[in-house]
Amino acid sequence: MKKYINANVYKHPEISEFIVENGKFIEVGKNLKEVVETIDLQGHLVMPPYVDPHLHLDYIFSGLGPNNANVSGTLFEGIQRWSDNKKTLTQEMVRERALNGIKKELSHGVQYIRTHVDITDPNLTGMKALLKLREELKDIITLQIVAFPQEGFFRYKGAQELMEQALKMGADVVGGIPHFEISYEQGVESLKRIVDMAIKYNVMIDIHCDENDDPNSRFLEVLNALVMEKDYGKYTTASHTCSFGSVDNTYATKMMGLFKESQINFIACPTENAHLQGRSDTYPKRRGLTRVKELLSNGNTVAFAQDSIADYWYPLGNGNMMNILDNGIHLAHYTHIDEINKAFDLITYHGANLMAVNDEYGIEVGKPANFIVLQAQDAYEAIRERAEVLASVRNGKYLFKKEVRVNDFEIDFLK
Ligand code: FE2
Repeated sequence: MKKYINANVYKHPEISEFIVENGKFIEVGKNLKEVVETIDLQGHLVMPPYVDPHLHLDYIFSGLGPNNANVSGTLFEGIQRWSDNKKTLTQEMVRERALNGIKKELSHGVQYIRTHVDITDPNLTGMKALLKLREELKDIITLQIVAFPQEGFFRYKGAQELMEQALKMGADVVGGIPHFEISYEQGVESLKRIVDMAIKYNVMIDIHCDENDDPNSRFLEVLNALVMEKDYGKYTTASHTCSFGSVDNTYATKMMGLFKESQINFIACPTENAHLQGRSDTYPKRRGLTRVKELLSNGNTVAFAQDSIADYWYPLGNGNMMNILDNGIHLAHYTHIDEINKAFDLITYHGANLMAVNDEYGIEVGKPANFIVLQAQDAYEAIRERAEVLASVRNGKYLFKKEVRVNDFEIDFLK
């Protein structure tokens, strides 16, 4: 049994101490009973682990090397480069890539990842490798796997069967990419079949949706209508929806009403899409971001995600969700002090909500003792300083811990 004292718990001023036993929180609050082992958190900020709800673990680091760079910086060149290179992929290669990516994310305090895995591959190489890892690593990280038709549900021959096979093998979520199909009609039809498949296999939906700057891209509207009709909005996530940042305000207002009704969820990937979008613009140059602030005020769940780490789509990224949050709140103008104070929701609770892991997520009695400690006293200081994660605890055990970083000034004036 361990008692943690002097914690500043994000959004829970009523908690400054908690007791952990057998990997679970057994008491939380103030002035708790004495126990033998006490850990002083020195007023540091504590919160549930970071959640990265949109990542492609099967192609992490594929963009490294002199011949792998995406020259145009566009989504389409990324897909083509991946398509050309994935033919020689083995399960061992995917495993190594995914493990490297998971280590990066873990080292920054992430413990929940939803990963899209390409199923447009007759051998389902990535899917097999990731399903094994999900099981192997379940005590240190929660992995949720999306069966994702990277090269198109119709555009890639046999994708529908492969997707169904992946769901039978145990994928948790069904994906899609309607804006990449060869016609609007095929994009719509792909969404219809994907929604039916989700209901048939009782899994969640997460669509790469309107990841472009085209103000007339309408797959978000179609997806929302389909899931609204089946009352499946809260199990559905529209990822990217960059074009919704370019649509006319009158249209956006109408759609906001419908999103409120469906309770569909959103994921924005601020760094990835700031890089990929706006490539046809001169100036003004679009930001590539959906209407984050407005969707949040509308009552929809919005989370931020990394998406890529040094792959064919995006040359940077290291799994540090603080970097994603920092970029995202700037791009979204989510920078009023009241917004900054609750911005951690975008990389914690909101991701957990759309991944439907609420039962095990949060600093509450009876839940697994999963939490992180940041080098800051409160949320505002943490974001302003881009605070480091000092410790990540899973089921009551440290995944890592670090010393508090202090500047040892050598100049007298600064000491
Ligand atoms: Fe993606």
